Amino acid sequence: KFPLPIPPIKRPKITYMNNITGAIIDYYEVEVKPLEKRIYPNLPPTNMVGYDGLYPGPTFAMQQGREAVVRFSNSGPTNMSVHVHGQYNRAPFDGWAGDYALPGQYKDYYYPNAQNARTIWYHDHTEFKTGENVYMGLEGFYLLTDEAEQSLGLPADDYDVLLSISDKQYSANGSLVYNTNGGNGLWGDVIQVNGQPWPHLNVEPRKYRFRILNGAVSRTFNISFHADENDEALRFSVIASDCGLFSHPVTTDNLALSMGERYEIVVDFAGYEGRKIMVRNARDLFPCIDYAATDRVMLFIVGDAATSNTNNDAVPSSLRYIPPPLQSNTTKNFTFSRIGDEWLVNGVGFTDVEHRILTRPTHGSDEIWELRHGGGNSTHPIHIHLVDFQIISRTGGRNEVLPYEAAGKKDIVWLAPGETVRVIARYAPWNGVYMFHCHNLVHEDNDMLVAFNVTQLEK
Ligand code: C2O
Ligand code: CU
Repeated sequence: KFPLPIPPIKRPKITYMNNITGAIIDYYEVEVKPLEKRIYPNLPPTNMVGYDGLYPGPTFAMQQGREAVVRFSNSGPTNMSVHVHGQYNRAPFDGWAGDYALPGQYKDYYYPNAQNARTIWYHDHTEFKTGENVYMGLEGFYLLTDEAEQSLGLPADDYDVLLSISDKQYSANGSLVYNTNGGNGLWGDVIQVNGQPWPHLNVEPRKYRFRILNGAVSRTFNISFHADENDEALRFSVIASDCGLFSHPVTTDNLALSMGERYEIVVDFAGYEGRKIMVRNARDLFPCIDYAATDRVMLFIVGDAATSNTNNDAVPSSLRYIPPPLQSNTTKNFTFSRIGDEWLVNGVGFTDVEHRILTRPTHGSDEIWELRHGGGNSTHPIHIHLVDFQIISRTGGRNEVLPYEAAGKKDIVWLAPGETVRVIARYAPWNGVYMFHCHNLVHEDNDMLVAFNVTQLEK
């Protein structure tokens, strides 16, 4: 067993002032380059590609109100387009799939960091290559914090832990296998957290904040925490999802995450001194190809005493103010289905350049989007760029919006077989062409990727 790796924090190279706006800007440089990672001690190292040659990439720690420019240089071996998933970026800096840098090129991305605190991730978004590039290592965390969050006294520093869960498949010579099962999805037999198969983390008997990302290409997870000698699942508080803190924590004993979703939880290990807590994955949700050990994720080994009690108070019952859900009379319908060899949205895919902009929301307008599962037994996590949305309803399939799905704003929603999900959002703050798509990256690369154009009303 190996310890949980913690990705390093990325530091700016310089900080300067924009002479026109007066804004202070942190400037970062990141290099996309090959890396070798030794996963199996008895096999050759695995060839991957990572931001700064790391997998997962370095973690950005951004403060609300402090803008950033990041130069991503591509030293190969693949094409590169970087998407910061969960932040509103102006369209030229949002990682448009066709706007990729070739090896030897770089692109400077501007990030406003203007939104409320949230757990964002950045990952590759290159046309037809997103799945493979993310699988080979191009993903990392991007944390945005604000004063409101910092004033809550939530577990911090060593007690605030990032967990990026994914699955991989290795060949006998240690290389990664990207097998898409005929364009349906990639399901590995090795579960990894922060790049390490089935790691462990030594923890103290106290509260921890875990920011959990499903960073897998196609696998859904339903995780729960179990003390070694019995099957009973620990209860924990869910405090945040894709777009930041809830107004109130939600208590649960299991958490379902489709690809790209983030949830933040607070788990209290007090009372479990000297015991082991296993994170399990229940495999009863929706079709994933499972293997003997895909029911286990990682292990927490609880020490005898807490070395620090700071930020160990009960989770506040009130976390932040979230305005009541928007209202709208505009409803648009999008159906996600497989037609022939392609995964399409309303019969259109990204390669259909003439038709791939499916809709033109007026800047600042509120719209309900009805997302329909078009048949078959695949899961389609639907991600809408630019906006934070509220899930209004889910009909068919599970027929309910889970409490922790309803409790905060989201940028991605799990659309399971038979389901229709309605979400509402305000199409702002920027104009421009943005993508929305299935976050099963194999489906995305097989064309389940389309766009909308936020357009100013003519005066
Ligand atoms: Cu996380 Cu358009 O992607
Ligand atoms: Cu899909």
